[in-house]
Amino acid sequence: MSVDRRHRAMGTGARRGRRTGTATATRAGWALALCVLARACARGRAFKGQDFKTCETSSFCARLRDGVARDDDRNHVLGHGVDVRAVVRSKSARVVELDVVNVGAVGEEGDARARVAVEAFGSGAIRVRVDDVQKPRYVPKDVLVREVEFDVSARALLAVTESAGEVMIEARETGARARVRLQPFAVEVFAPGSGSIPSAVFNKRGGFAMELAREESGEWSETFNGHTDTRKGGPTGVAFDVTFPFASDVYGIPERATSLSLKSTRQYESASKGWFKGGGAASESERNESTLGEPYRMYNLDVFEYLDDSPFGLYGSIPMMTAHGISRSSETITSGVYFHNPSEMYVDVNVDGSNGVHTKWMAESGAIDVFILPGTTPGKVLQQYTALTGTTSMPPLFSLGYHQCRWNYRDENDVKEVDKGFDEHDIPYDVLWLDIEHTDGKRYMTWDKAVFPTPQRMIEDLSSRGRKMVTIVDPHVKRDEAYPIYKEAKDKGFYVKKNDGNTDFDGWCWPGSSSYLDVTNPDVREWWAGKFSLNSYEGSTKDLYIWNDMNEPSVFNGPEITMQKDLIHHGGVEHRDVHNAFGMYYHMATAEGLKRRNDGNRPFVLSRAFFAGTQRVGPIWTGDNAADWKHLAVSLPMVLTLGVSGLTFSGADVGGFFGNPDAELMTRWYQVGTYYPFFRGHAHLETKRREPWLFGEENTAIIRDAIRERYALLPYIYTLFEESHRTGAPVMRPLWYEFPADADVLKTQDAFMLGTAMLIRPVLEQGAKSVSVYLPKGIWYEKRSGVRHVGPKSFDVAVSLSDVPVFLRGGTIFVRKDRARRSTTAMRGDPLTVIVALDENGRASGTYYADDGESYEFASKKSAFMRRRLTFSNNEFNVAGAGAEDGNAGDAKSFIDHSLIERVTVHGLSATGDVATCAATRDSFDVVRVGAVANIRRPNLPISRDFTIAVQ
Ligand code: GLC
Repeated sequence: MSVDRRHRAMGTGARRGRRTGTATATRAGWALALCVLARACARGRAFKGQDFKTCETSSFCARLRDGVARDDDRNHVLGHGVDVRAVVRSKSARVVELDVVNVGAVGEEGDARARVAVEAFGSGAIRVRVDDVQKPRYVPKDVLVREVEFDVSARALLAVTESAGEVMIEARETGARARVRLQPFAVEVFAPGSGSIPSAVFNKRGGFAMELAREESGEWSETFNGHTDTRKGGPTGVAFDVTFPFASDVYGIPERATSLSLKSTRQYESASKGWFKGGGAASESERNESTLGEPYRMYNLDVFEYLDDSPFGLYGSIPMMTAHGISRSSETITSGVYFHNPSEMYVDVNVDGSNGVHTKWMAESGAIDVFILPGTTPGKVLQQYTALTGTTSMPPLFSLGYHQCRWNYRDENDVKEVDKGFDEHDIPYDVLWLDIEHTDGKRYMTWDKAVFPTPQRMIEDLSSRGRKMVTIVDPHVKRDEAYPIYKEAKDKGFYVKKNDGNTDFDGWCWPGSSSYLDVTNPDVREWWAGKFSLNSYEGSTKDLYIWNDMNEPSVFNGPEITMQKDLIHHGGVEHRDVHNAFGMYYHMATAEGLKRRNDGNRPFVLSRAFFAGTQRVGPIWTGDNAADWKHLAVSLPMVLTLGVSGLTFSGADVGGFFGNPDAELMTRWYQVGTYYPFFRGHAHLETKRREPWLFGEENTAIIRDAIRERYALLPYIYTLFEESHRTGAPVMRPLWYEFPADADVLKTQDAFMLGTAMLIRPVLEQGAKSVSVYLPKGIWYEKRSGVRHVGPKSFDVAVSLSDVPVFLRGGTIFVRKDRARRSTTAMRGDPLTVIVALDENGRASGTYYADDGESYEFASKKSAFMRRRLTFSNNEFNVAGAGAEDGNAGDAKSFIDHSLIERVTVHGLSATGDVATCAATRDSFDVVRVGAVANIRRPNLPISRDFTIAVQ
């Protein structure tokens, strides 16, 4: 059935539901079955733009985008085409408060006004928060880390100086500065030690607008596609602009399927008088060319069959943007902004040649709560951002292996056969997933006993081979009095309410008529977490993990396939105020449940919806992509964007969810999946079976290699995850992140870095016989051949189906495990291969991190982890404890890891001898050369031991 028909069916149902209040069970049942079936069976592929709003049909965006005030707005709208001025109200050691009023207002009580607080944080961020004085706005909870949310001492001490027309604020600890200009009100933020160019300017272009609470009552409702939003409080939109005067490129504000470097959505407006050279970005003549017209939207939605290149917002939102530029003197500046607000928002981007990049942010409700991250490097921006919203939680090691999913594995025998298939084809995997059909009528945490009669035994069987299972648990709860979860939550009053504030909201999703847990309420989350205990979730074991889908939330008969904005949450909060964080609260509660169930060990919960802070909870995937080459290609900018927005643990469905990939696409997708931080194959209900061995012998062999390569890289990937946990750095990185001064990589999205050490240029085109590669400055070694290259350099590399061009970066070292096993558990204690790629001076360094892969002991006990520093110089390879600059060394002696180094592979070695010796043990080892690559064979020394091996 076509998507068209799916939506018509839903529309009809929705209208009927409203007219009759409670439709009869039969009628509702039919409509609902149609709606759900249509969705599950949709064959035709087409994104239906008319089902979703645009800026023009979102009234707040239409009003605020151009900033043209109407005369009658002046009493309840600040700014919006009128200049605003700020008046200092108070200064204390940690905050400076100001009032803002429209220029021309006398500034007395009674005039429209808002309160501004400027604060600084130890991480370097500067916060500008603007609130309505009459009716304070909703404050999002549990998004910022606790210290930032609650602890006054997390605010930096300030030095404040006031002079004519401005207030200078300096954070004593960090040296970050903010100049508050009073009229018109604007805030310039400067990184510590930076000169006269601000990292970012708030309200440089007078885009500030705040629609304030109104005294008078009015009819503010707004209707879209037959759904009326009552908007009782009147318009409460907010807007502001941020200019990055040095930037040529901006990145971030996921989630959407579009370019990594965000294209302009609006025309440039200012004459050039700029500072910067424009890097690889729009030149003066180019800057208008790719103007999209429509601003980027952030509103978590279940977008059916999303396009492969569109500014449209998808399942999750992170209102965080990073800006980057290279000055004429080749100085680089990276800075960022985080808008702490989970309501619907739009962002205009205006790449303005040498004037930098202007951005304008418009949100439907909430406060203007903006954190400016002065940078000045990509790493520092992420540090500053993750100090506010948290870093990636340490994943359980198994979750970094390969995951096999499909909608649906039919029954216990199917599970057995698929599991066996991996062993028979010698392909490693860690987790087998069950989609919605495993349940009894989409009552989550139940089993369809006809096909899954012995779930516990089934899971235990997988566990016996070191593997795990994941089941899906979605946030809609089937309205069935005989379903204990439904009944209990209903009796406790735990569901989201209609706009009357009393009646449980009833929406349609997979099970039909459903209620939705109000996970904004901490009590609901607490209760929900308890549902994952082994007693509660029948048939579960400690090796069963969870997948939270549809948590935007998806409501098939709701406006834009989600909840009405005037539904009521805990504390009387309207859905519009919390929408974008809803899915994260659900994800949080589930993850907490699994953590408790497993005695405080690391949970694993995959989510589709996300918000700022989701990185603390668990991974996400990029939703329902399609089995075509464009979706494969766009998965790279999507995952890279998430990474630079703090959420590095993500991946796209390998193979593409909708449609049937041919053998070539499938194979190429696995070769990309090797490097996604989250690596899972998944497919729609109606697609052909596509387990990795179903594409012919040659392709099976290549897919096997791709998955095995993932397992071989796990020691490195795990080390990168730990770095991300500590510093916020992404695992999979855009080239500009590692080479910020290279103007030629600022828009690169067909190649990326895995950590610092590997550059991957996967094949993304059908039938490709070669790919073009660009290597930034430095020494590189082609992984396949060992051939040495000196960058910067562009060239073509010939490829066959089995080739993925990978380059090792001179100056780096990382660790692999090269024994082929069936899962991560089976790799424990396996010997290590150290890969050394020397720079032009014959030097290299890297780290290796290991812990138990499942507990949090590493956080409190030195003996629970080890971090080793590996260096190579003067033809000597050295292993020692890591220094403070890499995080703590841990305690290699008490941390039990007997892994021996069985080989050290050195690229670019100048020594020509065929023997290497270890002075400490007096052992000597063969050095065997394969082409230009030297292998020190079988040192068999534990990596936990300090030693040096010298090549003669
Ligand atoms: C949604 C998910 C998809 C899943 C399906 C059925 O479309 O995005 O991954 O298979 O629902 O649960």
